[in-house]
Amino acid sequence: MRPLDFRSDTVTRPTPEMRTAMAAAEVGDDVLERDPTMARLEERVAGLLGLEAAMWVPSGCMGNLIGLMLHLQRGDRFLAPVAAHVLGSELGTGAWLAGGMPEALAWEGGLGRPTPAQVTKAAGSPGPYYTLRTRLLCLENTHNFAGGTTTPVAEHRALVAAAKAAGLAVHLDGARLWHAAAALGVSLSDLAAGVDTVQVCLSKGLGAPMGSLLCGSAPAMVEARRLRKMLGGGVRQGGVVAAAGLVALDYLPRLGEDHAKIQRLAEGLRAFGVAAPVPETNILLVPVPAVAEALAALEAVGVRALPVGSAIRFIAHRDLEPADVEAALQRLEPLADLLRGA
Ligand SMILES: Cc1ncc(COP(=O)(O)O)c(C=O)c1O
Repeated sequence: MRPLDFRSDTVTRPTPEMRTAMAAAEVGDDVLERDPTMARLEERVAGLLGLEAAMWVPSGCMGNLIGLMLHLQRGDRFLAPVAAHVLGSELGTGAWLAGGMPEALAWEGGLGRPTPAQVTKAAGSPGPYYTLRTRLLCLENTHNFAGGTTTPVAEHRALVAAAKAAGLAVHLDGARLWHAAAALGVSLSDLAAGVDTVQVCLSKGLGAPMGSLLCGSAPAMVEARRLRKMLGGGVRQGGVVAAAGLVALDYLPRLGEDHAKIQRLAEGLRAFGVAAPVPETNILLVPVPAVAEALAALEAVGVRALPVGSAIRFIAHRDLEPADVEAALQRLEPLADLLRGA
């Protein structure tokens, strides 16, 4: 039985078009000068986000880390929504390497997001030299562990305005900002408005084998290049992978297809009496009574997913066909009791 892999949108394989582009990529030494294909990718993504410059990094974690390092000095506090990737899923590098002290903000503005008032309150006001200094607000759109939830443009702007009024810089973890823009029907630049830095991933949902872009002002990216080199992320003929990234961007207009696939999965599960919410983007969190037991049962019928707290996370992506979703529902129907806890 062919496994149906809903674990993540990172499990996709490069397409034949990507492999062809990789083989033909024009390259140079990106540490000594600029690799021309990496430079093309950086310019294209900076343009999409409405920011001045961009820098390729091998992973989303490195993009976020460099973003944090740009904005924080040792001992500075940074704010992020509860369960943000930078808080719980980057092995503490925000503290260990960027020197920041994390503070989680509850989701009082909706799933995955704080309110501007919370930002203002948590930022406080500058005190004497011996007071803790809060320097950065880190947002996440879509919010992975909230279930791929979006922050609409008006709320994004209000959060950025609150941060700026309190003297904070703003970094946006936009690993799946593409998905938020597609779901909300707005431009990427609207969702990045006002931020100092944003990180977007080519390897999540778009199908590239690796690569993220950190974007911001041109001077910030000059410093970011230095930090990337310090972290071992300066690559030489990176155009070979950047070429796949450029092809991956062609998938942007099709992201709605992946959202439709996960909506269909959720709808099918609800028809079996499972408490599946209506997903906003390509992620579905299904709360279950016994996660390990349910996951083992899923694996046994060839449906792969991952645990997120007391829920099972399903993610749709371009390597799953609508027919695969129907096949998954057929395999899951006999397990409905486990999924609904009856
Ligand atoms: C919201 C978010 N940010 C950052 C990352 C890190 O990306 P990478 O795995 O490429 O380091 C992920 C990975 O899933 C993510 O979901």
